[in-house]
Parts: sequence; structure tokens; C-alpha cells
Amino acid sequence: MTASSPNTPVVGLEDIAFATGANRIDLAELAGRFGVDPAKYYVGLGQSEMSVLAADEDIVTMAAAAAAPIIERHGTERLRTVLFATESGIDQSKAAGVYVHRLLGLPQAVRVVELKQACYSATAALQFAAALVARTPGEQVLVIASDVARYELHSNAEPTQGAGAVAMLVAADPSLIELEAPTGVYTKDVMDFWRPNHSATAIVDGKLSISAYQDAIEGAWEDFRSRGGAAFDEVDHFCYHQPFTKMAIKAHRHLAKVVGSELTQAELDAQIEPTTGYNRRIGNSYTASVYLALLALLDSDLDLTGERIGFLSYGSGAVAEVFSGIVRSGYRSALRSEDNRAQLDARTAIDDARYLQLLGDAAAADVHDVVHPQQTSAPFRFAGVAADQRQYEPTTA
Ligand code: CAA
Repeated sequence: MTASSPNTPVVGLEDIAFATGANRIDLAELAGRFGVDPAKYYVGLGQSEMSVLAADEDIVTMAAAAAAPIIERHGTERLRTVLFATESGIDQSKAAGVYVHRLLGLPQAVRVVELKQACYSATAALQFAAALVARTPGEQVLVIASDVARYELHSNAEPTQGAGAVAMLVAADPSLIELEAPTGVYTKDVMDFWRPNHSATAIVDGKLSISAYQDAIEGAWEDFRSRGGAAFDEVDHFCYHQPFTKMAIKAHRHLAKVVGSELTQAELDAQIEPTTGYNRRIGNSYTASVYLALLALLDSDLDLTGERIGFLSYGSGAVAEVFSGIVRSGYRSALRSEDNRAQLDARTAIDDARYLQLLGDAAAADVHDVVHPQQTSAPFRFAGVAADQRQYEPTTA
């Protein structure tokens, strides 16, 4: 199967890698504090763990760790652009990607910019990257999505926190996925989730956010179809934004109903299951989440060669986009599946007391001057703040 006419270059994902925090907390720990059955989280939300950052980790260190193996494999000769998508920005002016640019030793002849629209902006970055590469097929674009999901402590949203980064290299004649041209877009001003400048945590209307998500996906799907996008039954796998994995199942059942699919609920749920393995253990990683769904699918036992993947991206506030891609033959040789699983297993299990302490440390970190002793074993670390300047450095062994 191919999506491009002979005159347009085939553009898509050449490489993908991820990083997350040093620690993990089992949601049974939170269930104990909340006085609820852990099944509420394991089954009701479809989440088993959340990643928790060490005090010397943040969106920059995760982003650099995610992108490092991609730069190591492909070099920087063709790299012209870095697009950094986040909604947990560390500065109101400077793009977080500029720190990553230095940590990775990227050439100066590279443009770097940050994009924001809740959990959606990595998808905008991917589309912008595809357009840049289509214009100049010799160039490559590094797209990085990196976020820390933080809600008010002891709120219903707290068990849907998490942290992660995904880096993707967009190129012509890609090894992993060819992006198809049709996309469907949707925007509506909704106050379902936002974070005012004075707050370190998001404000959310949980129930509204669930219906806003489903409405936005429905609207983007209708636009996708009207622009020549594939029909529901022509899509083999569906990667949804996963603030908690049950949300993808809810949205998929909703979309199936809208399009009049005759698949049973069990068949629909089975379509989502292979995309949930990483998000179930990482928690919400906002901009990175839909691409962690993709990574889990690519790393699964399924042979995806030639199959069509649908992407259903949502960012509260609210913007959604639906697009699709075809998996290239030989894609497996470009993956790092064992490393990915090992990275999740290597996190340190922490209890609720340690988790609360780390959240307290993170809240105290945004100050004029602070030194962070080394905690992380990730390749880069956030060493502290000196005279209002964030200090990043490679981690010493
Ligand atoms: N065993 C099994 N299931 C159980 C259970 C048990 N013992 N107890 C409860 N459940 C089920 C409930 O039936 C419910 O399932 P259904 O929705 O399928 O009926 C599920 O567990 C959750 O229970 P509640 O609805 O009572 O949960 P809650 O009100 O405490 O909180 C939440 C849920 C509203 C999602 C809250 O976690 C939240 O606000 N999260 C943040 C917002 C969010 O993620 N919204 C998603 C869309 S917005 C978006 O996608 C952008 C983004 O990233 C934020």
C-alpha cells in the first residue's frame, strides 16, 4: 500500500525513541491513601503505574535522553529543525529545545522552537515537520514531545499524572511510517483543562474533559473523512491520546458508534489494547502520550508491515487532529524494543511517602538559586538554578 503520488516525496517517521522518569509508583499506593479499591485505577482508568521524576530531571533532561539515540544513529548532517512540543514549559520566553540543542551538541545551523496547545502540539509539530521535509526532502526534522503531568494533590485527577518524552525524526523515504496526506482538524474554545501562569498544576473539569475529548475526535474524524481520509474499516490500528488508557477505549467505542461500525465492544477494545502497554505504566505524558501509544504498538508482537495506523490526537482547550500512516516494510530493524522495555523496568519503585517528598522537592525547585544533588542515572540532568539560569549537564557515571 502506498499513499503518495509519484511526484510527491514519501515523508514520515524515520526513527522514534522515548525517555521517562527515574521512578515509578504503583497506583495501589495512591489507592491506599485515597481509600479506594486499586481496581478503580487498574481497571476503571486502565492505569497501573505513574512515572515520577527525580529532583534533577525535567522536560529538558527527558527530551535530551529521548533524542540522544536518534542523533547517535543518524548524525546531524541533514538536521535543520528541532520542534519541541510541551505544555509544561520551564520558561515563558526561551524554548526548552535550545537547552537540548546544546546538550546534544547540535550544529548552529539549526532552527529551534517550542510549540504549545495542551496535549495536541506534538501533532502540529509532526505536520509542520512533514511539510518542511516535503519542501526540501534532503532535510530532516527532529520533533520532541516532553511533558510532566501534574494535578492538585489529593484530587481525583492525581492518579492520572505521569511523565515522559518521545523524540521522532521526520525524513523523506522513512524507515518506519509513511504519513498519508489527508488530515482532519477541529478547534473549539472549551474550558475543560488549563494551567494559569500562577499555578504549577493544571485545573481540570474531569467529566467535561472526557466529553470534550470525544466531541473533538468526532469533529476531527468527520473533517478527515471529508478530506479523503481512510474509512474506519480501512484503518488497522488506532493510536489515541491516552491521558489514561481507558480514555482511548471510551473514545474508540464512541467513534465506532458515530461511524456505525458493526464491530463488537470486545473487538473494538482489542483494537486499542496493543497501543496501551507503555502509557499504562508511564501515566499521562500529555504531548508524548499519543506517540507512546504508537511506540507500544510498533514494539508489540504484531507484524504491522503495510498496515494503516490511524492517529487521533487531542489537546484540551480544545484542538484535535486525525491523520494516518502506513507502516513500511523492514520497520522492525529500526526499533529499539528491548531497550524500551528495559527502560521501563529499570525505574525505581517508590512508595507514597517518597512520591510526596519528590513532588514537594519539584514544587520548591523553581527558585532563583538551588543545587540539585545527583539522583538520576539518565544521560542528562538538571543540576539546579544559579542566578535564575537553569543548569543542565551530562550525568557523570
Ligand atoms: N473497579 C473497577 N472500576 C472502578 C472501580 C472499581 N472498584 N471504581 C470505580 N471504577 C471505574 C468507574 O466506574 C469509572 O469508569 P467509567 O468511566 O468507565 O464508568 C472509572 O473507574 C473512574 O471512576 P470515576 O469516574 O469515579 O473517577 P474520578 O471521578 O475519581 O476521576 C477522572 C476520573 C475524571 C478521569 C479524573 O481522573 C480526572 O479528572 N483526570 C484528569 C482529566 C483527564 O485525564 N481527562 C481526560 C480527557 S482530557 C485529555 O485527554 C487531555 C489531558 O491529557 C488531560
